[in-house]
Amino acid sequence: MDVVVVYETHYGQTREIASAVADGAREAGADATVVGVEEATAQQVDGADLLVVGAPTHMLGMSRPWSRGRAHPQEVGTGGEIDDGVREWLVGLPAAGTGQRAAAFDTRLPSALAGGASHGVARALGKHGFEMVADPEGFVVEEAEGPLRDGERDRAREWGAALTRKVAATVG
Ligand SMILES: Cc1cc2nc3c(=O)[nH]c(=O)nc-3n(C[C@H](O)[C@H](O)[C@H](O)COP(=O)(O)O)c2cc1C
Repeated sequence: MDVVVVYETHYGQTREIASAVADGAREAGADATVVGVEEATAQQVDGADLLVVGAPTHMLGMSRPWSRGRAHPQEVGTGGEIDDGVREWLVGLPAAGTGQRAAAFDTRLPSALAGGASHGVARALGKHGFEMVADPEGFVVEEAEGPLRDGERDRAREWGAALTRKVAATVG
């Protein structure tokens, strides 16, 4: 069974969670690939039994070119924009193949008002025909630049393993 984990990151935190999700998928017996959204191709997704997409929460939801720019003022200047992100990648994603499953996660601050990018990611994946195998999940960062809250890496690994077992039970 093939699992592909696609992530967007600006400070490395969502990449760490993506990598833990993939570790969990491997523990559960899958082949797992982790790929940044700038490099993720339709071909990679095409072969996946389970696609997991992760994004940092910006302004309560998925990032936008200007919010990404805010995370990289040294590189793009204040007011600069960065075009590549999960929001745009999802727009260009081909429709799911028969029986392709998906799950969405985000990273977010420890606040009741944090919002979460994973809801929008899950909605977009559903619109593309993926069968969602879990509710959107949020993983907590202590500050905008990290670190991850203690225990979140382990929780992500367990989440990845659980998703994989659920899909494997029906893929054979
Ligand atoms: C412009 C900007 C807006 C943000 N808005 C939110 C927000 O609305 N809610 C939240 O929980 N975190 C917010 N954050 C914090 C991000 O969620 C945090 O930086 C991210 O989880 C770190 O993941 P990354 O290292 O993969 O980019 C924001 C960060 C930036 C840079």
